[in-house]
Amino acid sequence: MGRRRASIALWTSLMLIILTIPDGNASDTMDMALPSRDGDTLLSSGGKFELGFFTPGSSNHRYVGIWYKKISLLTVVWVANREIPLVDSSGVLKITDPGILVLINGSGHVIWSTNSSRSTWVKNPVAQLLDSGNLVVRENNDENPDNFVWQSFDHPSDIRLPGMKLGWDLVTDIDSHVTSWESSDDPSPGRYNSGIDRHGYPQMFLMTGSVVQYRFGPWNGLTFSGSMGMTINHIFRTWFVVNQNQAYYTYELLNSLVICHVVLNPYGQLQRVTWNNLTQEWDIYLAAPADSCDTYAVCGAFGSCNIVNSPACGCLKGFTPKSPKDWDSGNWSDGCVRLTQLDCKSGDGFIKHSNVKLPDTRRSWYNTSMNLKECEKLCLQDCNCTAYSNLDVRGGGSGCLLWFGDLIDIREFTDFGQDLYVRMASSELGKKLSRVIVSTVLTAVVILSITITLYFKKRRKKEEDRPSMSAVVVMLSSDSELPQPKQPGFFIPRNLWQADSVSSKVESINEMTTTLVVGR
Ligand SMILES: *[C@@H]1O[C@H](CO)[C@@H](O)[C@H](O)[C@H]1NC(C)=O
Ligand SMILES: *[C@@H]1O[C@H](CO)[C@@H](O)[C@H](O)[C@H]1NC(C)=O
Ligand SMILES: *[C@@H]1O[C@H](CO)[C@@H](O)[C@H](O)[C@H]1NC(C)=O
Ligand SMILES: *[C@@H]1O[C@H](CO)[C@@H](O)[C@H](O)[C@H]1NC(C)=O
Ligand SMILES: *[C@@H]1O[C@H](CO)[C@@H](O)[C@H](O)[C@H]1NC(C)=O
Ligand SMILES: *[C@@H]1O[C@H](CO)[C@@H](O)[C@H](O)[C@H]1NC(C)=O
Repeated sequence: MGRRRASIALWTSLMLIILTIPDGNASDTMDMALPSRDGDTLLSSGGKFELGFFTPGSSNHRYVGIWYKKISLLTVVWVANREIPLVDSSGVLKITDPGILVLINGSGHVIWSTNSSRSTWVKNPVAQLLDSGNLVVRENNDENPDNFVWQSFDHPSDIRLPGMKLGWDLVTDIDSHVTSWESSDDPSPGRYNSGIDRHGYPQMFLMTGSVVQYRFGPWNGLTFSGSMGMTINHIFRTWFVVNQNQAYYTYELLNSLVICHVVLNPYGQLQRVTWNNLTQEWDIYLAAPADSCDTYAVCGAFGSCNIVNSPACGCLKGFTPKSPKDWDSGNWSDGCVRLTQLDCKSGDGFIKHSNVKLPDTRRSWYNTSMNLKECEKLCLQDCNCTAYSNLDVRGGGSGCLLWFGDLIDIREFTDFGQDLYVRMASSELGKKLSRVIVSTVLTAVVILSITITLYFKKRRKKEEDRPSMSAVVVMLSSDSELPQPKQPGFFIPRNLWQADSVSSKVESINEMTTTLVVGR
């Protein structure tokens, strides 16, 4: 018995030694002298990721890919030859002169390569698997990320890892996007892709081919305006960077023990998943699209989707269904049209919509330094401008985003979203008045009509500049900020207003009257 036990122990330790040898020798780097055959692997320095040959699910094919080393469920984060599989285990991965990583099949054909215009720079190329999951091709002694000849992070498969930049760069001419697998057994490019569109203010889309399925909404400094769960959390932090040369989205993990990424699955859903060490499964932390209001443009132009309503689609205030029959039968694709046409010359105004996912910005213009007032003014000056908003909601709001043409893919939230100011004919603004406010304002006007008359006499040059009493009421009742007087600001003695006004400094009659309406 004792002898048998001893031999089992010996056998076990031999096995352990044999099993650990490959890991002990595992390198994270491959050079020209050392090609990788099926069965060989590269292991990242911290042991998080491994690169090698694999077979997905019930497939018969072999692929070169990168997967998490430390979790029990094979989760491939990147695939090299997703379009052309190896049919057997005769594939060889090697780095060649000048700095091109190639995958060669059993009969010597290159079935995949990392061709790059930068390849010519390198003399002594190596391929290295970084602990971020990024496979890089670089000059042997040059680990500066800016000098990488090629990196897998620029060519994602279906997974966005932390640190990966998703988007475009005009300087490097890279437009990186994720593409779903065809199925869990087949990593070839599937129906869905997600990247950043460059028209107007850049925004992230989920598409099938060139058809938008889901739009995240423009980045507002904190989150995407259509995203419900991406605000401050303990797991990750996100950025969206937009400048003249690039627009990209990236995130970092706040806790190095958490394993987390975003995957675009074969069914077209983007999921942020975290590894659950207890159940040994991926938990879904966030998913998009999540409900029917996430379907792109489900309510058509000037429609608005609110998931707590039934039906979910409605028209924006001041709009009515374009095709009432279709609309009533639940086909909202035709959207809504104005009850009253805009009249740019005689002065339009704006209705403020709060807690909305901002509309599609493909036909938009933006400026990061303008404030909301300047933004409104600019919108009013352009008869094609249909809405405006702040670009960044932080610190009370900054920047200017202008929309031209139809407003598409708006949804209303209870807690999320932001303010959108939609251009309306001035008569539509009047209709919003409740009787109480009308009488309050009228009373206020009659208290103060002398002052107002004085004011308008002062600033008026032409007779048309003087608003009729009803126009004044319309102006007073508007949610939006009123147009600035053309003449320099007019001061009313403070004591006249003290009872109602809480503002410390009164700069124009417009602000005064707005304060009055709010004060009551
Ligand atoms: C290698 O690839 C070429 C071109 O795709 C193909 O014709 C050939 O059959 C492949 N050989 C093997 C062994 O897979
Ligand atoms: C690399 O790509 C360029 C075009 O982008 C092509 O002209 C060149 O032949 C390619 N080189 C290799 C080795 O595939
Ligand atoms: C996962 O759980 C195992 C056993 O409970 C533990 O040893 C290991 O450290 C855990 N790993 C992580 C990443 O928390
Ligand atoms: C909805 O209406 C549009 C325009 O009238 C039409 O083209 C489309 O096929 C309709 N969709 C469905 C699902 O009936
Ligand atoms: C943005 O607006 C500011 C202030 O009006 C202006 O100085 C700047 O030139 C504008 N930038 C662009 C790109 O239009
Ligand atoms: C407004 O839009 C129309 C039609 O799209 C276009 O023809 C016109 O030039 C635009 N006007 C301005 C001021 O941009």
